[in-house]
Amino acid sequence: MENFSFYSPTYFEFGKDAELKAGELVKQFGGTKVLLHFGGQSARKSGLLDRVEKALTDAGISYVSLGGVKPNPRSGLVYEGIELAKKEGVDFLLAVGGGSVIDSAKAIAAGVLYDGDFWDFYSGKQVEKALPVGTILTIAAAGSEGSPDSVITKEEGMYKRGTGSNALRPKFSILNPALTQTLPAYQTAAGATDIMAHLYERYLTNSKDVEVTDRLIEALLLTMKHETPRVIADPNNYEARANIMWAGMVAHNNTCGVGRSQDWNSHNIEHELSALYDCAHGAGLAVTMPAVFKYVMNHDIMRFAKVAVRVWGCQMDFDHPEVTALEGINAFQNFLCSIGMPKNFEELGAKEEDIPKLVDVLCHGDGRQGSISGFVTLNEDDCTKIYKMML
Ligand code: NZQ
Ligand code: ZN
Repeated sequence: MENFSFYSPTYFEFGKDAELKAGELVKQFGGTKVLLHFGGQSARKSGLLDRVEKALTDAGISYVSLGGVKPNPRSGLVYEGIELAKKEGVDFLLAVGGGSVIDSAKAIAAGVLYDGDFWDFYSGKQVEKALPVGTILTIAAAGSEGSPDSVITKEEGMYKRGTGSNALRPKFSILNPALTQTLPAYQTAAGATDIMAHLYERYLTNSKDVEVTDRLIEALLLTMKHETPRVIADPNNYEARANIMWAGMVAHNNTCGVGRSQDWNSHNIEHELSALYDCAHGAGLAVTMPAVFKYVMNHDIMRFAKVAVRVWGCQMDFDHPEVTALEGINAFQNFLCSIGMPKNFEELGAKEEDIPKLVDVLCHGDGRQGSISGFVTLNEDDCTKIYKMML
């Protein structure tokens, strides 16, 4: 295991009606004037926003609202939010929604306290300080409710890039699994896929002797394998939703990623797909991961064979571990298809003729030097082959 520092100070309020505590929590964490940030229609339609607004008012917290965050959130609304927050003297960001809303709120929180262009943080500059952010999560997926990360798409060039800093970890996150019961099945499945991707990206490591985090990841993958079909079959299954919601947080606040190198090539390759086609991030990952895994599995065949046996129930073939490894990847892909995720470019709405453009932005966009690295380093030729495997 490698040396690590781990600081994860988010306070979690979990369970039914937890959102009613929003006002008190903002106060507890020092907020007096809130920018209430949300997405399209879902939070208003479900009545959640009304309850949150009342909770703020009851606690004596004033607020201004900025809705309209789109999935794969854009820089345009971030600039708008920064202006609004400065003008109104906002001192706290409250995000009501999924990863897109939370990431947009984090970007605004960093941008308000910075004199330059907030995009600097998404092209290499470290975020040192940000306004405090609280979240009320409505979809178990991105893990942004506990993570130090934010992913934004710059409209000019459609670059989708991330930044990470402990200053961006939410001060509190409200997790009420019942809020996720209104999700369409496709979004539920895309969220589950993203959670499993966050686990695989950490599982694919070059660090030795990391049994504790390996086992944590396997337990979380097994949980997702068990619970996801249960919520697809019954969207109102609160207990299954609760297990998935907490798994999504633990999968990405880095509890199971400390002390080990991590991959993230699947995420980088996918981000170009959701930037170009505006597909759900999880759906893009469902198509990306099996291709990446098959392409890189020979780098450490026993790691892929191990997850195949421990999570996917495959029989270990000691003479031909590559057979076991491949069986595990195929079992994972079949599972993703069974919950309604796409399996190739066509089902995702991606186009073969765009591959050169995807590879160019992936490997050269925004300062990259012709390759991406993680579990293995992938150059333009590798990335082209991987996208072609998704056809
Ligand atoms: O806008 P509304 O109307 O709310 O609809 C949303 C949106 O269309 C809908 N939705 C959310 N909660 C709902 C609901 N519909 C009905 N009932 C509910 N309770 O779901 C759609 C997707 O929402 P979004 O926030 O985009 O989903 P997700 O949480 O999957 O976030 C995806 C974004 O997070 C980034 C992704 O790249 C993508 O941009 N990521 C962020 C990470 C992080 N900050 O740590 C890590 C991830 O790997 C990921 O890259
Ligand atoms: Zn993700």
